[in-house]
Amino acid sequence: MYLTDEEQRILNGECGEPQRLALQVLAKLGEACGAERLVEIASAHLVASSYQIAGEAGIEIYSRLVEQGARVKVRTTSDPGSIDFARWREFKTPAEYAARQLRIAELLDQMGVIPTWTCTPYAAFNVPRFGDHLGWSESSAVVFVNSVMGARTNRLAAYVDLCAALTGRVPYFGLHLTENRRGEVLFELTPDLAADFADHYFPALGYLVGQTVGDKIPVIVGLTRATFDQLKAFGAASAASGSVALYHMVGITPEARTLEEACGGRIPAERITVGTREITAVMEQMGGVTDGPVDVVGIGCPHASIDQMRRYAALLAGQRVHPDTELWVCTNVVVEEMARKMGYVEIIERAGAKLMVGTCHNDCPLQAWGFRRLVTDSGKFAYYTPTTVGTQCVFASTEACIRAAVAGRVERS
Ligand code: F3S
Repeated sequence: MYLTDEEQRILNGECGEPQRLALQVLAKLGEACGAERLVEIASAHLVASSYQIAGEAGIEIYSRLVEQGARVKVRTTSDPGSIDFARWREFKTPAEYAARQLRIAELLDQMGVIPTWTCTPYAAFNVPRFGDHLGWSESSAVVFVNSVMGARTNRLAAYVDLCAALTGRVPYFGLHLTENRRGEVLFELTPDLAADFADHYFPALGYLVGQTVGDKIPVIVGLTRATFDQLKAFGAASAASGSVALYHMVGITPEARTLEEACGGRIPAERITVGTREITAVMEQMGGVTDGPVDVVGIGCPHASIDQMRRYAALLAGQRVHPDTELWVCTNVVVEEMARKMGYVEIIERAGAKLMVGTCHNDCPLQAWGFRRLVTDSGKFAYYTPTTVGTQCVFASTEACIRAAVAGRVERS
């Protein structure tokens, strides 16, 4: 693989051991993936900021790098950690576990990582521009910045993202190249479904698309509008049930002003029609509503935006969460502060819900709660929490989630 003079100097160790090691990893990855060269990146985002992912090995790696003077070279942000840094005791996190996450936070801080602790860094602090090359991990963030913002990143693995941050480079292959960003599988929504497309159909459609295409690039035709949060929910679900890292919604996302543009002029042979029957079936698969009590309701996955906080506050105003049920709202510290200023946090907390900030159900040790049944409006939670939290899952709209939290149970309507 071609290396510039500067990259060759880094590889010779002239810029210190952390950069040398990081460049060596990237060069080997590039060679294995057929990259001709490296490309400079505008920013990085790290997934192994969570103790649950990094573990003791991560602490050892970060400690060694810090001792060797490692510093990130580009704007770099952290994914959710494994604790709510302010409230970990309220979430029954063991003290020794919290101490390990705090140690990771300290080490990342010493390397110059911005402590955003969020899976939605693109909404503040780490906002890519169209066409920027990036070195990001976190499946829900990767699919968002590729699809909705038109930036370019492969779905990096933990530690490869750190190598990108330390060198400011990634191998130039995959989604960095225009020819690899063409839509490959076409999803056509039936007119009756498209005309009455409910908010919670976005994660459901994402889930269906992800499990159908795996890591191919889907193109969705039929919708005429979608909000920032709906695109976020769609992408996160598709990246969880499949490995989608880029999607196109014709007429909505920036590289898909027309079907021809989304597909690079070659309309895919593989076409799938999605109607009400298919959406209903996938929602059953994600966790159909069966009558019964609920232990925990999880909303804010990916991390809630200020618009979502406003919505939660409106739905919870004057209500009270059932005493046998937990309602947890996941978000980041930036949105929390803004929502506090705007009075939403007071309404949400007065109703008995808890904010879970800088983390989420999937990243925290929740065994002490003994949860058996979770209700969520998130396709990503629906996919992962049966394994990570060990619960049965019910997938429902945001309104139905709040109703379940207040009633302490779900009922098939
Ligand atoms: Fe974010 Fe956790 Fe969901 S990392 S995307 S809130 S599973």
